[in-house]
Amino acid sequence: MQILGVDVGGSGVKGALVETQTGELLTERIRLETPQPATPDAIGATIAELVRLHEWKGPVGIGFPAAIQRGVARTAANVDKSFIGLDVVECFSRHTGLPCYVANDADVAGLAEIGFGAGKDRPGVVMIITIGTGLGTALFADGRLLPNTELGHIYLDNGEEAEAFASGAVRDNESLKWNAWGKRFNRYLTQMEFLFWPDLIVLGGGASAKLEKFADQLTVAAPVVAASFLNQAGIVGAALFAETQLKTSKS
Ligand code: BGC
Repeated sequence: MQILGVDVGGSGVKGALVETQTGELLTERIRLETPQPATPDAIGATIAELVRLHEWKGPVGIGFPAAIQRGVARTAANVDKSFIGLDVVECFSRHTGLPCYVANDADVAGLAEIGFGAGKDRPGVVMIITIGTGLGTALFADGRLLPNTELGHIYLDNGEEAEAFASGAVRDNESLKWNAWGKRFNRYLTQMEFLFWPDLIVLGGGASAKLEKFADQLTVAAPVVAASFLNQAGIVGAALFAETQLKTSKS
């Protein structure tokens, strides 16, 4: 099935047409700047623009950087606070005029990796961590997702919030070298391992393509690998999520 996958991030809103049977992108990825302030109407209009640029008339899967409970945003760390409590499914469907399906961005990136990527056929606990403006997490046990784990917001043993200490945005803003940032990120991974004991850790987002630059700073016991879809996992997974929702609503 073909579905438009959209990944809403703190700095860019990215989309492409996805073949959900294979996880393949059927069109070039298009990236638009995330509007500032990132209000519901502004983001809705940006998603509608992506739909228009793709000349798309079908279902739209959207990964959004917040906890999404039955279509309602519950948090808003890197988008406008007016998202909290908003029915994002209704908002984005209204803006695009198309059926929209919305879930947490890291959760959908995880769906792509578990379905077709680094986490495929991996038993046990798989943790996906997306590194971007925020730190997103998705937790799978034997292939089943526990949704909305907001583990980028835990506090580390140095009293810092993980996302404010080791996100991709922090690396950029503080111009940290990969080694220095890798040490910070390792502190976060160590905490994650101590709490969840994942059998595999998959890194997504911008930094995933640079894993070799900080891999030697990582001391966790679990294998740490880059997402097979790198920073496109969110787009692919958003489409996979929409497909699951469509199938469930039909059955
Ligand atoms: C948000 C999460 C999101 C992550 C990555 C965090 O700030 O709270 O919901 O998954 O950023 O975008």
